[in-house]
Amino acid sequence: MPRNSETYICQSCGAVSAKWTGRCEACGEWNTIELEAAEAGPPGSLGGGGGAKAKGKRLDFTSLAGGAEQTPRILTGNAEFDRACGGGLAHGSALLIGGDPGVGKSTLLLQIAAGLARGGSSVAYISGEEATAQIRLRATRLKAQDAPVSLASATALRDIMATLKAAKPDVVIIDSIQTMWSDALPAAPGTVTQVRACAHELVRFAKQSGAVLLLVGHVTKDGQIAGPRVVEHLVDAVMYFESEQGRDFRILRAVKNRFGPAQEIGVFEMTSAGLREVANPSELFLSGADAPASGAAVFAGIEGTRPVLVEIQALVSPSTLAAPRRAVVGWDGARLSMLLAVLDARAGLDFGRHDVFLNVAGGLRIGEPAADLAAAAALCSSLFDAPLAPGRVAFGEVALSGAVRPVNQSEARLKEAVKLGFSGALTPSGAKHAGLALTEAATLADLAAWVRAGG
Ligand code: TYD
Ligand code: MG
Repeated sequence: MPRNSETYICQSCGAVSAKWTGRCEACGEWNTIELEAAEAGPPGSLGGGGGAKAKGKRLDFTSLAGGAEQTPRILTGNAEFDRACGGGLAHGSALLIGGDPGVGKSTLLLQIAAGLARGGSSVAYISGEEATAQIRLRATRLKAQDAPVSLASATALRDIMATLKAAKPDVVIIDSIQTMWSDALPAAPGTVTQVRACAHELVRFAKQSGAVLLLVGHVTKDGQIAGPRVVEHLVDAVMYFESEQGRDFRILRAVKNRFGPAQEIGVFEMTSAGLREVANPSELFLSGADAPASGAAVFAGIEGTRPVLVEIQALVSPSTLAAPRRAVVGWDGARLSMLLAVLDARAGLDFGRHDVFLNVAGGLRIGEPAADLAAAAALCSSLFDAPLAPGRVAFGEVALSGAVRPVNQSEARLKEAVKLGFSGALTPSGAKHAGLALTEAATLADLAAWVRAGG
């Protein structure tokens, strides 16, 4: 039977189709379908019959209890990185670290490599993007040149696998997965077929040898790890290394983690000597303005497992437009619309005839509903042009009825506020803390009255 050796593969989601189309039917992206040679596999290798005579081996089932090895995590010595990974690297795990070009992935991984090597692990750093001389130059800049890292510049998977199988390092860093290629496949490097095959081979090595695999992946304009989302399924953890345009701080965010909590973040600052750990991220996200301005409120949030204080800024101005403008940076636009509607309906305010702009300071993106109360306070403060008294944080979730609901981890939020020198907090009813003056807002009407009276 003639085998179709060429197929059309979507470079965004990896869906396979028999013919070229302008738009991928699976993910809806335009112009992502490309002709690729199909992955070669032995006939009948997919099991399930197909006329193949080869019989599968019978599996030995086992029980859920017992036999699980609790090997200690490998600590990199970089507290922010270890935190983002959920407490260090698990043996035999594979991590994908994605991010825009130039965000600092190579810098981060070189620092991690140096830290691990100094801690006694054997580390192989394989770069397909830079020559060894370039990496040495960076290592000198990072003061990491004395760390015993095994460095190589290579892209051929066959050579890399042969080397890894012989050297058996504890940690393997591949920078980047898109530059690796296998000569067993006719597809070009960077295509879905190549990236998937190379990632698969490397992950299998990690699982078999117990090594930790750190893969770098580039991210496309729309925030996908370029080409293959398929790689995300192969690995145990996916982390994004993000930066806000024109800012020096970087956030390493776990979006998937089989070995720890997802949504955990590590915060770094890019300096002339590499990435500096930021142990207290609140310092970045508070504007530091001394004189109280109207429209600013400090939200006591939780990012992952860590409390982070961040300033929310609002600007409300009368609008002449039939549909007033709403613009929001760092928060959900739909959530803002909801909050404005609830403020108008339940607290008798008039945001419907105002343009509203909301910004989360420092470039952080907030996803928690707990930010509702702080956002509402900022909005009211700007609407009434009444600055909130300084030294106060706020948190609480707003319901459509206008009631302010309690949120989780209020103790941790308040503790962080005390630690950073705040003296009071605006909370849902029922919060308790000895060290802070608490103001309870049971409803948005309470909040509006309180802000109008001078906060
Ligand atoms: P890099 O790690 O090469 O990014 P990526 O691998 O994600 O493409 O980082 C490149 C940027 O980082 C570059 O613009 C220079 C800057 N940088 C510093 O500011 N300080 C440093 O010590 C280093 C090594 C890089
Ligand atoms: Mg790089």
